[in-house]
Amino acid sequence: MDRFNRKTPEILTFEDPDTYPESAAGWIADRLRELASRKEGVSIGLSGGSTPASIYRALSRNTPGAGIPWRRITFFFGDERCVPPEHEQSNYRMAKEALFDHIPIDGFRVRRIRGEEPDPSRAAALYEELAPESFDLLLLGMGGDGHTASLFPGSPALEEDERKFVAVTAPVYPRMRVTLTPPVIAGAGLVAVLIKGREKARAVYEALSGEYNPVKTPIQLALNGTWILDGEAAAMVGEICCERTEDPLEI
Ligand code: 6PG
Repeated sequence: MDRFNRKTPEILTFEDPDTYPESAAGWIADRLRELASRKEGVSIGLSGGSTPASIYRALSRNTPGAGIPWRRITFFFGDERCVPPEHEQSNYRMAKEALFDHIPIDGFRVRRIRGEEPDPSRAAALYEELAPESFDLLLLGMGGDGHTASLFPGSPALEEDERKFVAVTAPVYPRMRVTLTPPVIAGAGLVAVLIKGREKARAVYEALSGEYNPVKTPIQLALNGTWILDGEAAAMVGEICCERTEDPLEI
């Protein structure tokens, strides 16, 4: 606990930006194997974004021999842009191209948010019925403004404490989105925050050291998780008191 009486996350730093996707994928693979050794079915919530995409590609590249029981994993999404699944902005399309197309799963185990629904509130309500009570592993990205999933600073969705998924308007294109809400992050078994790049260093620092105010800095909702950073995103972390490791991981 820090001076704001909140948790500080476990911080893993993989210094080399070039091998960061493999190292982060190795951490995820370890968690999936552990979860599958304890449970018959494992649920994972996927994030959109370029950093998660590079990690999904690393996961799919290294999957032969990695011993990940893909057929026992059900894939969900933490947010979606309100576009059809084949659209270039679709998080489902990104995950399909980066991961699903390359691993042995059947379509039944991929539960996407219906971005093509004309009414995003209905898409959110439908997804609430599909989503598990809680995710075993929830992957989140972070934007330079501290947003996570499609919870942007100041969003009314940050005040939501009952619904699990809601429709939101984002300040960036595509503006209509469906996103998970704070209780979903709080209720997940494991939360991993995947952050890479120099342009995120200040936001990481502010989230970890600034006053606890998730309405201003939504990623603070994930202070209960493991933050997996590359050396550039972690550039200012040394100035605050957080656990830090630098062990390279292999899938
Ligand atoms: C999305 C996200 C979003 C994303 C971050 C980080 O659908 O865009 O779920 O929260 O993860 O913006 O994205 P980058 O890794 O591309 O910066």
